[in-house]
Amino acid sequence: MTKSSKQEIEFPKGLEGVVAATTQVGSVDGIAGKLAYRGYDINTLAEHSTYEETAYLLLHGSLPTRSALAGFHGKLLGYRTVPDEALKRLSDLPCPCHPMSMLRSGISLLECIDDACRIAETQESKQDAGIQLIAQMATLTAAISRILEHKPPIAPDPALSHAGNFLYMLSGKRPEPLAERVMDIALILHADHGMNASTFASMVVASTMSDIHSAISSGIATLKGSLHGGANERVIRMLEQFSTPEEALVYVDKAMANKEKIMGFGHRVYKTYDPRALIFQRYARDLSELTGDMKLFNIAEAIEKKVVEKLGDKGILPNVDFYSGIIYHALGIDASIFTPIFAVSRVAGWVARILEYLEDNRLFRPRAIYVGPENLAYTPMEERQ
Ligand code: ACO
Repeated sequence: MTKSSKQEIEFPKGLEGVVAATTQVGSVDGIAGKLAYRGYDINTLAEHSTYEETAYLLLHGSLPTRSALAGFHGKLLGYRTVPDEALKRLSDLPCPCHPMSMLRSGISLLECIDDACRIAETQESKQDAGIQLIAQMATLTAAISRILEHKPPIAPDPALSHAGNFLYMLSGKRPEPLAERVMDIALILHADHGMNASTFASMVVASTMSDIHSAISSGIATLKGSLHGGANERVIRMLEQFSTPEEALVYVDKAMANKEKIMGFGHRVYKTYDPRALIFQRYARDLSELTGDMKLFNIAEAIEKKVVEKLGDKGILPNVDFYSGIIYHALGIDASIFTPIFAVSRVAGWVARILEYLEDNRLFRPRAIYVGPENLAYTPMEERQ
């Protein structure tokens, strides 16, 4: 709790611990280290589900029947294409521009181009626009990656799954089954996570009765920050600085002595291991062994051991962003696309929670305690110092 100096009112800085809504979409238990979507544990979903099924679950509240999933998949397929006009305008953006900024701009362009999305007023039409965004986020992200590599965007392949098609649109090569499955799991793991900053931001925008594209673009803007989704890119850039685990440990010692934050560690809610980090760690090890390149993984494990030894008691442990980048790196994806991949997945959680909140909407409008000077006399310009 923080106390405002002027009035004796205590408040949790950064809204820590404040309950802002009830939800049936998903739950996070930061003490037990558990995450569930609609009551299904994340480990179970990572093992058995697909991103398409998980997105359906988040949006509709229950696992789909075979025909419901086929219908949902068909809808996503129908929505995958992004209008050429949006892609052309994205390639004309002044660079260098971070892919997350391009993605945010891309979503705004889609809203401007697509009349149906802009005027989506009913819950049903908003849900439809949301499903379209889930499909298009992958296409936009892959196109942005291609644009930044000075290569033409690749049209979606309807024969591929959401994860497989995403990898195909990034590289132009149909992925191996293992690569497709690992990307699928990464998308499942990132799809929803309580009232995190980007989810809250998108819900705040939606609560004003703004359109769903505006809400999702605010989610992207929020996810970009280094304290949130932007940490995954920072982690890999940190790991890549070192040639050996020993070199990394010197850095960790220095960072801790200077009270600097180590990217990929710590969480507002988890005070134990983030369950997603444990799953990612396993796949990062397996993929690194498979590619025969253990360097980044060994460095990461050494950093983890040291940080946990020194700060574990304070609840500073690896979060979702610590190992995910090693996986994307092993899949040959550029670090600048790591945070956009987070958005490719999280859009499902954003949409599900926006729609849930709008069922019983109330404008988000907290207060701030004014602690500045009062009753000042207006000084004419010529008398100001
Ligand atoms: N490395 C070292 N020390 C840390 C770290 C870290 N990564 N994170 C927190 N701490 C320390 C702080 O220095 C502080 O120490 P103090 O009490 O001695 O001053 C204490 O732990 C509390 O830290 P806060 O920043 O106040 O805790 P908060 O709940 O606001 O932090 C956050 C959560 C922002 C995620 C923080 O842990 C952090 O900055 N981590 C690094 C960035 C990161 O990995 N972000 C991704 C989070 S997961 C996600 O959003 C997808």
